[in-house]
Amino acid sequence: MEYAKDEIERVLVSNEEIQQRLDCLAERINADYAGKDLLVVCILKGAVAVFADVLRRIRIPCAIDFMAISSYGSSTKSSGVVRILKDLDHGIEGKHVLIVEDIVDSGMSMSYLLDNLKTRNPASVRILTLLDKPERRRVELKADYIGFTIPDEFVVGYGLDYAERYRNLPDVCVLSPKMYS
Ligand code: IMP
Ligand code: MG
Repeated sequence: MEYAKDEIERVLVSNEEIQQRLDCLAERINADYAGKDLLVVCILKGAVAVFADVLRRIRIPCAIDFMAISSYGSSTKSSGVVRILKDLDHGIEGKHVLIVEDIVDSGMSMSYLLDNLKTRNPASVRILTLLDKPERRRVELKADYIGFTIPDEFVVGYGLDYAERYRNLPDVCVLSPKMYS
């Protein structure tokens, strides 16, 4: 797809590449969770696109739930202070929880969330992230299913935003630094 050059620097991961990658990840998930009580959790809002595309590839019985978290800080860097804006609707005791996230950056959000969910006695908690930016990690955090490892550039599209914009773009794109500097 063609984007406005002054806003979008380039496409980093195309929708086609995302769909192909999700086929592979879903195959692993279907095998890993066969016969288990699976709960797939979407982290709002950034993960909506990857969540919907992964969910439709899951071929085993599962339930879904939604959670919204936010980290304080400027819109291109998180401060590490995390709060829950919307909690899960139901308890997770004894369930195998698969968190679906858009991107792991500093790792603070997912690290906080893992610690928080583990206190609720789930059978297991794993993380699927569409994107991973390991160069920016500030705490040790390894996702279990990773779509793409990307360089330290601010990306938008396919659910990811800058100031609530660009979530609707079909591809993951590098935002022109002009837009936030
Ligand atoms: P972390 O706690 O630093 O790992 O931050 C994770 C959250 O920051 C993600 O869920 C995104 O909402 C946001 N974020 C980090 N990097 C980007 C990016 O490149 N584009 C858009 N949002 C990002
Ligand atoms: Mg997010």
